[in-house]
Amino acid sequence: MSITADQERNFYDSAYAAHLNTPDHALRTNRDSIRRDLTDARGAFYERRRLYGAVLQQLLSEPLANYSVLDYGCGLGEWGVLMATEGARVALVDLSSVAIEIGLRRAAANGVAGRVRGFAIDAADLSSFQDGEFDLIYASAALHHTLKYPHALDELVRVLRPGGKLILAETYGNNPILNGLRKLRWLLSRQPDEAGEEIILSDRELDLLRRYFQRVDMKPMNLLAMAKRLGRGRFHLPLVRAAVGSLEFADRVLLGVLPGLRRYCGEVLVIAIR
Ligand SMILES: C[S@@+](CC[C@H](N)C(=O)[O-])C[C@H]1O[C@@H](n2cnc3c(N)ncnc32)[C@H](O)[C@@H]1O
Repeated sequence: MSITADQERNFYDSAYAAHLNTPDHALRTNRDSIRRDLTDARGAFYERRRLYGAVLQQLLSEPLANYSVLDYGCGLGEWGVLMATEGARVALVDLSSVAIEIGLRRAAANGVAGRVRGFAIDAADLSSFQDGEFDLIYASAALHHTLKYPHALDELVRVLRPGGKLILAETYGNNPILNGLRKLRWLLSRQPDEAGEEIILSDRELDLLRRYFQRVDMKPMNLLAMAKRLGRGRFHLPLVRAAVGSLEFADRVLLGVLPGLRRYCGEVLVIAIR
């Protein structure tokens, strides 16, 4: 393993520190605010709007009002708090105590503090939770950080009730060209190893999930449209949005004609039933 949990915690603590001063009104999170974020070309969600749009649709189709939910590697806590605003009882888990502090502030800012608990812990050890405690576990860009720990998957499965659902929104790593470009970008951006990005979820990791889950469904998305990465920071420009729209259209045609190419897409929504 190239990095330790302490290094990864320090990396994310400093990455999130800039958000500690976010005013309460900017922490408002609910289904409408997330829908707005998905269409805000200047916002952080825009680049992954198809993936997160699919996540939103999936989460809102769950009976959240009766659910106990774990937001696994929750980061700034948007998704966990969204689910709390839909009535779920939510546990936010993240290695970074700064992330949990912001997540709990977000819960308070949305009037759902009573339904949200925060745990600044390593998700490789979920002993804070009982067997089968959760109906649903959601992990956005987080499972690939914990799979390097030997018992992380056992722990995740242990706290999910039989028949419960794991929903993952992840970068998809079967495409050697995309993986090469990602590695090149990490090198050029001098992203430190502490970011913990060495695993990219691919069919190998999904096969591992199949050993634990009775059913694993995948919705891969964006093949040519992964070139959207080049537009980062420029999606407010109509020309850039039009280019991305054309690539998404080309993907729809290409993946419709050649569905075998779907495994080379760059993002994936995974839904697994325990
Ligand atoms: C790429 S961020 C994704 C955050 C958030 N889920 C999102 O979609 O914005 C990865 C998150 O996983 C957390 N993380 C990394 N390793 C972890 C571990 N061992 N246990 C718990 N959280 C971890 C990091 O602190 C970080 O917040």
